[in-house]
Amino acid sequence: CKTNTLYLDMQVRCKTNTLYLDIHLTVMVVPGRQDKEEKIYYPPEDLQMNAHVPNFNSYLALYKRSIEEPEEFWRDAAQEFYWKESPSGQILQFNFDVTKGNISMKFMAGAKTNMCYNVLDRNVLDRNLGEKVAYLWEGNLPAHHQTITYGQLLKQVCRCANALKQTGVKKGDRVAIYLPMIPELVVTMLACARIGAVHSAVVRLIIWPCYSQFAGFSSESLAERIVDAQCSVLVTADGVYRGEKLINLKQISDEALEHCQEKGSPTVQKCVVVKHHALRASGTDECNKLQVGLNIMSTLKIYNLYKNVVILTPWNAERDVWWQDIVDSESEQCDPEWLDAEDPLFILYTSGSTGKPKGVLHTVAGYLLYTSLTFKYVFDHHHDDVYWCTADIGWITGHSYIAYGPLANGATSVLFEGVPVYPHVGRYWEVIEKYGVSKFYTAPTAIRLLMKYGREPVEKYDLSSLRVLGTVGEPINPEAWLWYHDAVGQGRCPVVDTFWQTETGGHVLTPLPAATPLKPGSATLPFFGVQPCILNEHGEELQGEAEGYLVFRKPWPGIMRGIYGNQERFESTYFRKFPGFYVTGDGCRRDKDGYYWITGRMDDMLNVSGHLLSTAEVEGALSEHAAVAEVAVVGRPHPLKGECLYCFVTLKDSHEFTHDLVEELKGKVREKIGPIATPDFIQNAPGLPKTRSGKIMRRVLRQIARNEKDLGDLSTLADSKVVDVLFSYRCKTA
Ligand code: WTA
Repeated sequence: CKTNTLYLDMQVRCKTNTLYLDIHLTVMVVPGRQDKEEKIYYPPEDLQMNAHVPNFNSYLALYKRSIEEPEEFWRDAAQEFYWKESPSGQILQFNFDVTKGNISMKFMAGAKTNMCYNVLDRNVLDRNLGEKVAYLWEGNLPAHHQTITYGQLLKQVCRCANALKQTGVKKGDRVAIYLPMIPELVVTMLACARIGAVHSAVVRLIIWPCYSQFAGFSSESLAERIVDAQCSVLVTADGVYRGEKLINLKQISDEALEHCQEKGSPTVQKCVVVKHHALRASGTDECNKLQVGLNIMSTLKIYNLYKNVVILTPWNAERDVWWQDIVDSESEQCDPEWLDAEDPLFILYTSGSTGKPKGVLHTVAGYLLYTSLTFKYVFDHHHDDVYWCTADIGWITGHSYIAYGPLANGATSVLFEGVPVYPHVGRYWEVIEKYGVSKFYTAPTAIRLLMKYGREPVEKYDLSSLRVLGTVGEPINPEAWLWYHDAVGQGRCPVVDTFWQTETGGHVLTPLPAATPLKPGSATLPFFGVQPCILNEHGEELQGEAEGYLVFRKPWPGIMRGIYGNQERFESTYFRKFPGFYVTGDGCRRDKDGYYWITGRMDDMLNVSGHLLSTAEVEGALSEHAAVAEVAVVGRPHPLKGECLYCFVTLKDSHEFTHDLVEELKGKVREKIGPIATPDFIQNAPGLPKTRSGKIMRRVLRQIARNEKDLGDLSTLADSKVVDVLFSYRCKTA
């Protein structure tokens, strides 16, 4: 047996005569998925020397303690933080079983603390980190950058907190945030946390690899979220460049506030507008010339000039105020509001399979503890690290691992406004070299995009500062994992594939870089306090090697506490299917070594470029078009996005399926949900495959979208001829 080549010698015997036949069969073993999955990557020794969890045995010992003695484990972890009233009594109280009463989970209830005090004042006052850089802000253009120390951040947060109080915000009020990746975004979140207001960040300026431009949610989606949380203030910005594209955030915000009026819920009293794109652009020649434009101002319209483009900032003098006008003049002192450990910290919306987004609610102390601890261990954080997470802060990844987790550890983070391919495809690598980034965290979709350009743009830059790489958001295919490990990490940086959800608050299945042997494509093993189980369709727990539903048996401090204003939906979404367990909605396989491999969603959700979308929501948007009689949306694999949307549309009798109609339908989805949800494929479907009881068989549609001819058992279909018709209309190209 040579490398990659297998020779087989076979003997064949005939029944009557003995006939010896030598067959030499040469099989070339092409390194396939299985091969790559099976190679194990061990932690580098130099990382282990100084690590918080330096080997596998220490991981096992800590994990064992977190499960067997959870009260002591979390009480010890809590000691690092400042408590106005210390946790006493029982640390953890919970009920995960719907048959025994309401679902609830509480950590350290009764203790009093403040998130903002712990991530800022504690660092500045107790740990003497006032001069340490909290954020290295890197703008859309490399020439735009700014550093913010912990001391400066604290002062700015206090000013903002005072300004919010002046606008009438009180403890428990909800504040909507629709900001780009700028320091004011973190400042606003922390200011809310300081005064006990609940932030709801609605911005999702995401990486959209195919177009590398803004692809957040639309004004209607923003409105839906503002109305659901009944926000009293909206904080936004004049505009922002993403790559070459200018996004007029204020205009989108205005449209959203109009929709709120139309929905009969005009709760927003004040709209605070950060003058960002014009002000921060100053400093470059190009922009200096244009500064003059900022002074052309009337009460109704404000013109901003930047890059020779005039944008109109619509203005409502009664409602709108410039951030700079109300924040800059405020005092640098603001006493924190001491909150109960279980008081709400923020709401963050995530897609729901019914189509209506769910406002996931997190509370103060458990979230602080969990994001802080996972950040410290999963990235093996040390004082001299420069850490960079490329996610948007408006995504849970940004909340937990750009804002709260890193700040709680006194970390220095890069805060990046731009996109991976602007002004050139080596931008990420350039930023890593520029700041000496040692821990880097991004999404598989970004890796697949950058992989397309080969190793040359990576090799142009000095990436020797890197020590740990991370991924999040979707399963990472082994090819992308290996490229990340070899081309970016130069074979010496472990890749931590972190599985978690908006709902889990922080990493739940994840390697620890100096402790866990890695298998490309596997999120490996549970974090401390997390007890994963795999269940079959009947809710029976499967042992050993198994595949089924991924569920968790007990809460950990960072788990969501509910869906804002909807306990019933909270229980039915996560706890009713398998009483006694939190149900993730993901499928999972456990291999012979006990490693976990996420296999994808088990519900009607799709993961497009690491962002969850609900098929029902897209179907709802398409159905609003006058030509549409019926519609069904399924996922189809996509080389960059992981998955993309494939829509089957049945038209009303009088309508014709044309190219223009397809464009109109795509436009409808963009307008209702946002560019992230734009379907790649829209196919004419004269009929849909339905069971006799009228239920659409999505499995069949998924197979048609993927051109899988072997459809298995179709006996439950009311009319199986429809399948051939759908195959004949199949979209071959996007
Ligand atoms: C998927 C993102 C495989 C999964 C933090 C989950 C992953 C959903 C991984 C949550 C991973 C996230 N491997 N799948 N490492 N990380 N997912 O709420 O389907 O935006 O349920 O939170 O993303 O997405 P969400």
